[in-house]
Amino acid sequence: MNSPHEIARCAPDSAGNPKLRDPYRPLLHFAPRRHWVNDPNGLVFHEGRWHLFFQHNPNGDGWGDMSWGHAVSDDLVSWDERPVAIRQSVDADGLPVELVFSGSAVHDGDDLVAIYTSVRLSADPDEAPLQTQHLARSTDGGETWVKDPANPVLDRGSTDFRDPKVFRDGDRWVMAAVEAVDQKVVLYASDDLRTWTLLSELADPSLRAGTWECPDLFPLAVEGSDEVRWVLLVSVLDGAPGGGSGMRWWVGDFDGTDFTPEAGGWLDHGRDCYAAVTYNDAPDGRRVMIGWLDNWAYARQTPTLGWRGAMTLPRDLTLVVTDAGLRLRQAVVRELAAYGHLDVALRPGEELPLHGGAVRLSYDGTAGELVVVREPATFSEAFGSVSRVPVPLVDGAVALEVWLDRCSVEVFADDGRVVLTFLVFPEQH
Ligand code: FRU
Repeated sequence: MNSPHEIARCAPDSAGNPKLRDPYRPLLHFAPRRHWVNDPNGLVFHEGRWHLFFQHNPNGDGWGDMSWGHAVSDDLVSWDERPVAIRQSVDADGLPVELVFSGSAVHDGDDLVAIYTSVRLSADPDEAPLQTQHLARSTDGGETWVKDPANPVLDRGSTDFRDPKVFRDGDRWVMAAVEAVDQKVVLYASDDLRTWTLLSELADPSLRAGTWECPDLFPLAVEGSDEVRWVLLVSVLDGAPGGGSGMRWWVGDFDGTDFTPEAGGWLDHGRDCYAAVTYNDAPDGRRVMIGWLDNWAYARQTPTLGWRGAMTLPRDLTLVVTDAGLRLRQAVVRELAAYGHLDVALRPGEELPLHGGAVRLSYDGTAGELVVVREPATFSEAFGSVSRVPVPLVDGAVALEVWLDRCSVEVFADDGRVVLTFLVFPEQH
């Protein structure tokens, strides 16, 4: 049942009646049937299918009761939402005692093992709960999970140690996680997923803003060569150029102990690509990334009906050589090629209104920048914005690939080297 306050959030029609319809449920993007979603979790390709677990409140459309939801896809286009996979733990009165935060999933033989952050709630509300890393195992392809009796498997005595991304590196496991408030990525290694040894810690003194979350570390091919480099992704809770949360990427070297960044930038110059991580064990050497199509600056207020939050379109990542060095390139996965998008050549001085003008693209020829204006919205003062990012003109225009869905715009410019992702709620602007 949708509560009256959920219905009231939908803007009333001219007669003052709430609009009892859902104009925003995406057609091509994953969104849960109902209730709240945030980060993608446990992205793993298993027995020919793409598994998407996600931070989920199974009981409501606000953040809380954090558990792992689950959806499966054969083609990265349509998603089959499955029963809740890993639930929070509750006491005899049904009150939460342990929340299940973000993490990853790997193959251990035929089993899937999830490595997630457990947040053990204290009876004393003034006491910050510890964040420790836990395991759960599934022997039925991710449908049901058993938490490991050896939990926690990694405890730093920290209240901000979270979001483990585990991957196979040769004959061992490597984990990238964060000390979120200290703005550090911590790397660990293990032979058995249960005993972990610290490898190194990485901070970027040039980036002291925000809280670091959801790291990912992976090898990535350089297009047109045999070269493979390492890429680190980090989500930054606040302080992104567009306002609120955003993501950084770095390319560099991982020598088995330390990751040494060489170059990087913002992963997405829009406002709504957060907590993005990549699939483990994707076929054909692919590196497929999915993010949360949202921003903590207003995620709790978005005007949807009984569900809240969605994922970005899945994107293939590669590295490309440019005059300025290696750059990350994002491309909507080829499985979506049959679905409609716009190919636009935008010239200086022209404007492209999308979603009835709620989002407008233009090119500032003087500054050499692509400009995206998102109109202010009624539900949050933080929503309206102007984003600007340098993009070179080619033959007097910028070539844009624009993917529209009912509550989003994803813009790929400069052949995928510049990406801007935006939520949009046309009726609320
Ligand atoms: C990122 C995040 C993670 C955490 C999860 C909790 O959006 O804050 O750091 O694990 O969400 O839902």
